[in-house]
Amino acid sequence: MSKAPVDPRFAFDPTDQSKTQDFELMAKIRRECPIVRPTENVVLTTRYEDTALAFRDAKTFSAVGDMRAPGVVVPLEESFMGELDAPLHPRIRKVLARVFTRRGALAAEDWTRDRVRGRLAALAARDRADLMKEFAMIVPGSVAAHVMGIPEPMHDQLMSWCSDVLHSSWPSTGKTERGEGIAASFPELAAYVDGMIREREQAGDAAPPGLLTVMVQASDEQGRVISAHHARTLVVNMLAGSLSASFMLGNLLHRLLTDPEFDATLRREPAKIPAAVDESLRLEAPVTFLFRRARHDTEIGGCPILAGEQIMLGMAAANRDEAVYPDADQFRLDRETPKAHLAFGLGPHVCLGNHLTWMIGRVVLEELLARFAPGQIRLVDGFEWECVDHIQEYGPETLPVRIGKS
Ligand code: HEM
Repeated sequence: MSKAPVDPRFAFDPTDQSKTQDFELMAKIRRECPIVRPTENVVLTTRYEDTALAFRDAKTFSAVGDMRAPGVVVPLEESFMGELDAPLHPRIRKVLARVFTRRGALAAEDWTRDRVRGRLAALAARDRADLMKEFAMIVPGSVAAHVMGIPEPMHDQLMSWCSDVLHSSWPSTGKTERGEGIAASFPELAAYVDGMIREREQAGDAAPPGLLTVMVQASDEQGRVISAHHARTLVVNMLAGSLSASFMLGNLLHRLLTDPEFDATLRREPAKIPAAVDESLRLEAPVTFLFRRARHDTEIGGCPILAGEQIMLGMAAANRDEAVYPDADQFRLDRETPKAHLAFGLGPHVCLGNHLTWMIGRVVLEELLARFAPGQIRLVDGFEWECVDHIQEYGPETLPVRIGKS
């Protein structure tokens, strides 16, 4: 592969969050050189249309190695959905999509509301809490685990393990200091998930309802669709993927705690809650960017791309493209934008958890506003916003609060 030039004005390390989450820098790039090489063999898109095009064109832009460090290759059965290509990707996606429907999300709403109420009631009895650690980091994963059919007493433990996965070297290298692959890196997590898979394999028709049973039992003309090994990886994929919804909740909670007008508007006009959830996803995209790889020489928006180059799909930047979103840097509840934002991606890999995420965001805001009076929960004095330590994720690491009595 011959090298295309890096633009020295916009050279930066793509793993440096202080650059990838510098929205003024992204806006400058979008204005001056919207498709740019921040480092060798990496092409960043910052406009909506270019980013959307690359998401849609899975034939030209491969998802393999999406989240891994350069040169890291993991076996298919250790691959998340977002890093699989056809033909395996659509085969598995067809199975998961049976469960991740809008209807499926609404079917989980009563359970979610009940558990959110329970967790908020427990918080109300406290003087202090960390809304990330004790609420936002747990709720979406617990809902995902419920949809999978995993027994509730294990939900908190599973999410704690998944948070360890996210904070480890496994996502980028496929290994940790404990060993290679999920089983060696996270033996307790793997043993628990493998046990559930075995139970369902052995139970046949008597297996409990839920996505995990659907995954274990799915077969097509080529035979079993998802091996036990891959089912384990995909359970971790979905639980860890749901942490993006945790960061969305963190971003929404932070806004509620720091913007009294936002809080007052949602109390006055609860019908605006779904718009608030979607606007948070747009403006504060919990996944800032994703990678693809060009299979052959091509171009995006007139910029030549060489075979093998990594495309850094700047979703957070694209979501602030003024050509699509007027006042793109502002949080507005009255947007009538025909184009969906790119927080969930687009095309063949578009997030399967989107309906579940919208439902969780809505239910959490509804219940939180119903449970607590304005100002009853306050960020502790001296709080400073710090982003979660992960190259692609955007949301608060902690939200330490004081809780007043009602
Ligand atoms: C705010 C919340 C969320 C955000 C921002 C988000 C973001 C994304 C994005 C950007 C993708 C596309 C990956 C790619 O193109 O390579 C994706 C895929 C996926 N998401 Fe989410 N996600 C969220 C919540 C969830 C939840 C709650 C679940 C599951 C319970 C989930 C499960 C998945 C799965 C299985 C895929 C892979 C789809 C495929 O490759 O076919 N996500 N997500």
